[in-house]
Amino acid sequence: MRVPHRRDVPFAKLTTLGVGGLCRWLFEPTGESQAQAFIRACAREGQPYRILGMGSNLVILDDIEMPVLRLRFPAELKREGLSLSAPASFGHIRMSQAAAEAGLSGLEYAAGIPGSVGGALRMNAGAYGAELIDVLATFRFLTPEGELIEKRPEPGEFRYRWSFFAESPSLALGMTVKLAEGDRETIKAQVAVNMEKRGTSQPLSKRNAGCIFKNPPGGSAGRLIDQAGLKGLRVGDAEVSPEHGNFLVNIGHASAAEFAELMDTVRARVKETHGVDLESEVEIWRNLEPRPTPLIPHP
Ligand code: EPU
Repeated sequence: MRVPHRRDVPFAKLTTLGVGGLCRWLFEPTGESQAQAFIRACAREGQPYRILGMGSNLVILDDIEMPVLRLRFPAELKREGLSLSAPASFGHIRMSQAAAEAGLSGLEYAAGIPGSVGGALRMNAGAYGAELIDVLATFRFLTPEGELIEKRPEPGEFRYRWSFFAESPSLALGMTVKLAEGDRETIKAQVAVNMEKRGTSQPLSKRNAGCIFKNPPGGSAGRLIDQAGLKGLRVGDAEVSPEHGNFLVNIGHASAAEFAELMDTVRARVKETHGVDLESEVEIWRNLEPRPTPLIPHP
């Protein structure tokens, strides 16, 4: 298969948290047809695979043997009137900043939400009471069989930090958002405020994967963790951030085992103190799958 690939890449280089082992097979298509070739080959061979974006909402707890797909499409934005289109591998924050520069309003919430456009689609990214679905006009993806589909979002496909991509192995390729005309300086100022807000309440200078747990209905995971007295708790180099309880950070070279233990401890102590079961907000990858038959032989 003529898809650029690399072997044994440490997840420390592929994720913002920097925890995890090796990515045994990393496939990096540079265009939609290469991505389609990869998906079709996997479908034909019955080969499971995983999809990686910018790795900013991901905790890897092992080496991953199955092929990992990471898009490296050209970083090009297209504007048509009030619409802005970006490929899935484009940075979500960069798109928000470009919209502000163009005097288009609607993506201000995205300032400070790390990750790719594909990741934003998958999680229905949001902050400050707004989320992607509010502005999403159309999106493109490949089905698990490799069929290319472009469609408008439909009811039930996107909700709080969830989209149908989370349950289906479909591959997001890109999206178009419909924005509103606004005053460039006002939009840029709002983007700056949103970036700043996160910078003051969140430990963005440490390696992190954003909020680790979902907010329970009507509550705040960060506050519960804080009230349980867990801020500053450490297992090796994995730490509950002293700045924001829902950020578990890597303050050096935290191992996957240390990180898993810290997550388990926080969950157990919040359950004891508040009777609340915290659910992961980050995606967690383990190597539970049987060893795959690689799509291409070892060089
Ligand atoms: N709080 C504490 N102690 C803490 C942390 C928070 O008392 O250690 C309190 C705050 O004072 C505030 C409340 O808890 O009254 C909520 O905290 P915050 O405003 O920081 O928001 P959050 O609910 O913790 C959510 C998102 C963040 C997003 C911010 C800003 C989730 C799980 N988290 O955090 O998203 O950046 O709002 O919009 O929905 C992420 O998705 O990775 C993420 C970090």
